[in-house]
Amino acid sequence: MGFPKIRMRRLRSSDSMRRLVRQTALSVDDLVYPLFVRQGKGLKAPIKTMTDCFHFSPDTIAAEAVEVASLNIPAVLLFGLPGKKDDIGSQAWAEDGVVQRSIKEIKKAAPQLLVITDVCLCEYTDHGHCGVIKACPELVPKVRSRENGKIDNDPTCELLAKMALSHAQAGADIVAPSDMMDGRVRYIREALEKNGFENVAIMSYAAKYASAFYGPFRDAAESTPAFGDRKTYQMDPAASTEQAMAEIALDIEEGADIVMVKPALAYLDIIARARQRFDCPLAAYNVSGEYMMIKSAAAAGLLDGKAAMLELLTSIKRAGADILITYFAKDVAKVLLDKPMG
Ligand code: PBG
Repeated sequence: MGFPKIRMRRLRSSDSMRRLVRQTALSVDDLVYPLFVRQGKGLKAPIKTMTDCFHFSPDTIAAEAVEVASLNIPAVLLFGLPGKKDDIGSQAWAEDGVVQRSIKEIKKAAPQLLVITDVCLCEYTDHGHCGVIKACPELVPKVRSRENGKIDNDPTCELLAKMALSHAQAGADIVAPSDMMDGRVRYIREALEKNGFENVAIMSYAAKYASAFYGPFRDAAESTPAFGDRKTYQMDPAASTEQAMAEIALDIEEGADIVMVKPALAYLDIIARARQRFDCPLAAYNVSGEYMMIKSAAAAGLLDGKAAMLELLTSIKRAGADILITYFAKDVAKVLLDKPMG
C-alpha cells in the first residue's frame, strides 16, 4: 500500500470544490473608497493620472457618496485640495474648508456612510511638505532651501491636531493622519478627548513608506514637494521589519484604533507580520501606483484588468489586512454584487 499519494489537485477539481476550500474572501464590508474634493462649484473633473477617478467639489460630492453607499461600501476617505495654500497649510483647519464642507454634504445625503478624513498638510502647504518647515532665521530668505528645509515635528503635530479636530467638528467619523510625524496620534487623541470627540476613531497611517507608488496621487492631490522628498519622515523601504512593528506599536499606544500599512503590494510581508503581532483592525492602502499599474496594463491589452484587480486585492486580504483602501472599491463592489463593472 505505502503512504497515500498527496493529491492537492483533488481540492481544485471544480469551481464548487475550489469555493468550498477557499480561505480568503473579498467582501464589500472591507472597502474604503478614496475621494478627492477641491474648492469650486459643479465639478466632476477626470483626474488625468488616475483612470476613472475625479475631482469633485463640495456641491457634487453628495451624489457620488450616495452612489458609493448604494454599493454598500461602508466608508469613504476624503482628500482635500484647498483654494489657496500657504506655508503652514491654514486652510486645513478652516471651518468652511473644502473637506469640512464636504463632510457635511455627505453626512446629509448618506448618513450611514462613514466619513474618514486624511489628516496631512501636504495638500495645503505651498511647499508641498507634510509639515511646517523649520524656521532658520540666520538663513532667511533661503529658509526653504534644499539643505535647510527640515520639517519641524512638534509644531506640525499641533497643527495636525487642529486639523483633525476641525474634521471631527464637521462630522468626520474617523480621522486618518498620513503625515508620519512622531507623536501625532497622541496630539490628535488629546485634542479629540479634550473637546468631547472621544467617539471619533483614529486610523493611523502607522507604517507608511517613502514610496514611488504614490506618483499618480501626487498629481491628483497637487502635493508634490517643491524641494527635497519625504524620506526624512516616511519610512525607508529597506528599513527593518521591526522598525515597522515599532511604528505600529507606538501608534496603538498613543491611541490609534485602526493601524495601516501603506503601500500594500510591495509590503505584503509587513502586513503579514503586523497581523501576527497585533490584534487591532489592520488596514492596507492599495495606493495610486498599484491601481494605475493594473488600469494601464489592462488598457494596453496586456492583462485581464478585472482578474488582476481581484487577485491583487485577495493577496492583500490573505496577507492579513481587515480593511482595503482602494480606488478599485466601486469596481470590486460591482463584481461582488454581480453588477457590470465600469
Ligand atoms: C499624503 C498622502 C499621500 C498618499 C496618501 N496620503 C501621498 C504622499 O505621502 O506623498 C498616497 C496615496 C496614493 O498614492 O494613493 N501624505
